[in-house]
Amino acid sequence: MQEEIISIKNEAIAQITAASEISELENIRIAYLGRNGKLTTLIKRIKEVPQNQRVQFGSTLNDAKKTVESLISSQKNSLQNSVREWFDPTIPGIKPKIGHIHLITATIDKISEVFGRIGFERMRYPEVEWDFFAFEALNMPVAHPARDEWETFFVDVPENAKYGKIVLTPHTSNGQVREMLRVKDPPIRMVNIAKCYRRQSDISHSQMFHQFEGLVVDKNISVVNLKGTLDYFAQSFFGKDRKTRLRPYHFQFTEPSFEIDISCGVCKGKGCKVCKAGWLELGGAGMVHPNVLKAGGIDPKKYSGFAFGWGVERVLMMRSGLNVPDLRVLYSPDLRFLTQF
Ligand code: DAH
Repeated sequence: MQEEIISIKNEAIAQITAASEISELENIRIAYLGRNGKLTTLIKRIKEVPQNQRVQFGSTLNDAKKTVESLISSQKNSLQNSVREWFDPTIPGIKPKIGHIHLITATIDKISEVFGRIGFERMRYPEVEWDFFAFEALNMPVAHPARDEWETFFVDVPENAKYGKIVLTPHTSNGQVREMLRVKDPPIRMVNIAKCYRRQSDISHSQMFHQFEGLVVDKNISVVNLKGTLDYFAQSFFGKDRKTRLRPYHFQFTEPSFEIDISCGVCKGKGCKVCKAGWLELGGAGMVHPNVLKAGGIDPKKYSGFAFGWGVERVLMMRSGLNVPDLRVLYSPDLRFLTQF
């Protein structure tokens, strides 16, 4: 008899847990616990049980009934809850917020596209770099005073006999000699866009920033080609009516060297509050120094070239007229700033 009770109970449990409708549960309840239910009617057979086992029989039967009852009610609850979770697919959804490309990345894409149109290949040279490519090959031997301008971070690892110390590259000019060694035979037309690092941090400088470096090497390359490229960039990137001008300057890796200015977009070169004298400073450029060509394995008697290196953040600010009180906000994850663009 005991076994019979347990097997009826198990049968009921199996049916309850398999039930998927509340009405089904009601039928199960009637089938087991109703007036003529399988468990209810068992009590009538107590006469068949020997005297000394009747107490045990009664309590097993009661336990079985309780178990079945409570399982039915908990199953009912969970079915009702899942009914509540049912959703109406015709209700309009909540549109998820979608981000957008960061200002700096968008500017880098634009620069690559503008130079890509005139055949410059986009390169990306190391940001953790040998002293050799960052300085020495650029005509700045160890201990040369010109290096001071680059406020360099040095990595604390043993020096290499040929390439020297490891630095976080302070400019993208490190890509010049690397590109010459990669291509070997000119023509070379590359734009190296990468992160740079300097020991500087204030409202107009951040320790990490971006530069883009142009390099062209071929036969008969002259300042005329440099000027043409600069004008093309200025007009494509900033607007049709913009002009560039070259001012004499000095860099170790170019001869002659220039600072490049662009005519002010507000006053068109006449002079206003934004630019003061009609021109805004873009960055450095020049004709590649023969020693740099030699370091790249290129014969300076056969080939010549020009190079330029400018700040991505700088051209971004100049193009958009963005006037942030602290440049470092560009790298902060502050959505109040970033979602404006
Ligand atoms: N590397 C220079 C800097 O970080 C910029 C520069 C000047 C790059 C003249 C050039 C160049 O390629 O020809 O200030």
